Amino acid sequence: MPRPAIRGCLRFSVALAATAAPTQAQHAAVEARHGLVASAHALASQAGVEILRKGGNAVDAAVATGMALDVVYPVAGNLGGGGFMLIHLADGRNTVIDYRETAPASAVRDMYLGHDGKPIQGLSTCGWNASGVPGTVAGFAMAVERYGSHKVSWSDLCEPARRLAAEGFPVSAGTAEGLRSAEASLGRFSESRRIYLARGSYHRAGETWVQEDLGRTFARLQKNGPREFYEGETARRIAEAMAANGGNITLADLKGYRPVERAPLVGAYRGYAIATVPPPSSGGVALLQMLGMLEPLDVGSLGRDSTAKYHLFAEVMKRAFRDRAEYLGDPDFVEVPVQRLLDPSYLRGRMADFDPGRATPAEAVRPGLGRYVAAARHESAETTHFSVADAAGNAVSNTYTLNGAFGSCVTIPGTGILMNNQMDDFTSAIGAPNLFGLIQGEANAIAPGKRPLSSMTPTFVFRDGGLILVTGSPGGPTIINTVLQVITNVIDFHMAVQDAVDAPRINEQWMPDVIGCEGHGLPPDTAAGLRAEGYTLDETGRQGDAESIGLDPRNQLILGASDPRNSGAKAVGY
Ligand code: DON
Repeated sequence: MPRPAIRGCLRFSVALAATAAPTQAQHAAVEARHGLVASAHALASQAGVEILRKGGNAVDAAVATGMALDVVYPVAGNLGGGGFMLIHLADGRNTVIDYRETAPASAVRDMYLGHDGKPIQGLSTCGWNASGVPGTVAGFAMAVERYGSHKVSWSDLCEPARRLAAEGFPVSAGTAEGLRSAEASLGRFSESRRIYLARGSYHRAGETWVQEDLGRTFARLQKNGPREFYEGETARRIAEAMAANGGNITLADLKGYRPVERAPLVGAYRGYAIATVPPPSSGGVALLQMLGMLEPLDVGSLGRDSTAKYHLFAEVMKRAFRDRAEYLGDPDFVEVPVQRLLDPSYLRGRMADFDPGRATPAEAVRPGLGRYVAAARHESAETTHFSVADAAGNAVSNTYTLNGAFGSCVTIPGTGILMNNQMDDFTSAIGAPNLFGLIQGEANAIAPGKRPLSSMTPTFVFRDGGLILVTGSPGGPTIINTVLQVITNVIDFHMAVQDAVDAPRINEQWMPDVIGCEGHGLPPDTAAGLRAEGYTLDETGRQGDAESIGLDPRNQLILGASDPRNSGAKAVGY
């Protein structure tokens, strides 16, 4: 059975598969003593290190990296999207900045449905109606105001990005190919065609690419501060372009956008502590559910590539994704039963019908707490992940996204800002798959000001109170399963961080009822064993880009593990 159909704008894995080589030069982890950034682009990692060297901390460096990715990694890096930043402070505190996009005030539940009640092809994924109100600039600003070192200015943090945009940078082979492969979608919008396709002459690998408008946008952010994006000339340009093209985002939407600081979810697995992100991402809940289901079982004894291991993982994933579809949504709008979903006795019960010799058909997996009944709270691809650690012991695990590759493919004229297509992460219609084949439920229905449910899972792992792993990934729903496998590779299979990142991965997300495997992934006997148990396998994919950091407290080393699935990714330390 094929992977979910690609609808509207490009799905991330398509662009990544087109740009990534299966292996990469950087195999050994990069060792550093003072600080390190692992990101999807060498120049963005360098931007973060530049800030660390100036005296900035991991939060400052993360913001500079995120800004630089907007310029050098436009498939996912963004000012026009949103995400989650998980922060660990040297004094032991952990916190989350939720800068997920929100639905504009004009959004209504059925806005993507036609007269027949079915989603209109491409409306939530491509073009002017696909975007939520961007959160990246506000989220970054909140992070540095509350947790930055205050030794470097906001303008300093924007400077590497401004310089890369205004002075240009060499186009990588991956970026050149990624842009070309998105030609059909980017070419539909004149400003995107002008900037990203060079009016049809394309950017070639090795050429210097200058993005003048984007450089000016960063210069305005430097001069006027982060509110420029929400109230200044940039905001005005976004709102005017939206109005002129039938889009949904208004100046009031932009002015009203607020990031939210949230308490991380904290769980335990075999004596290790796990800190991760809460709703409106489903990632943390699903990750802790899966670890909770695995905890009573001796995973390590199954062997890292055995049929028995992948069978167990697929079943655990299926059950967590079934609960995700039923219960998870924006906690500011719906009651999410997080504690009940993470209760160890609930999770043991969830595995009561696990059959070690047979696949459970997707239709037979029921939501574990009964049917979701909407209990409204009083009103009160493209993605990329990067990890940062500094010498003082602060760390950041940040995943942010435009959703699909190059988001909605709309560039706001005169700004160089590509807009997200995050509205597709809402439930357009119950039972209808989204861009990633996810079936979603009532809890994730569209409402004005609501945040669409995410799968982003920036995560920390601690041993004896000390941070040992910073990880996360892009990949839509596969993110959660990528993070699960990186963590279990470290804890159950005692892999070093680079091996844990390199090892093959699988994805099972309840629907479609298929295990996605990487082309270079499972040994033939393992795959045959899974098929014999009733699974359908899709062995064509490549899963994620887990730009991770391992910390070795004994040797006081920071180990940067870049993911070989992304040929342009690089860990840079000093
Ligand atoms: O928030 C989410 O779960 C999705 N918008 C993430 C999309 C994604 O990871 C695409 N890239 N690979």
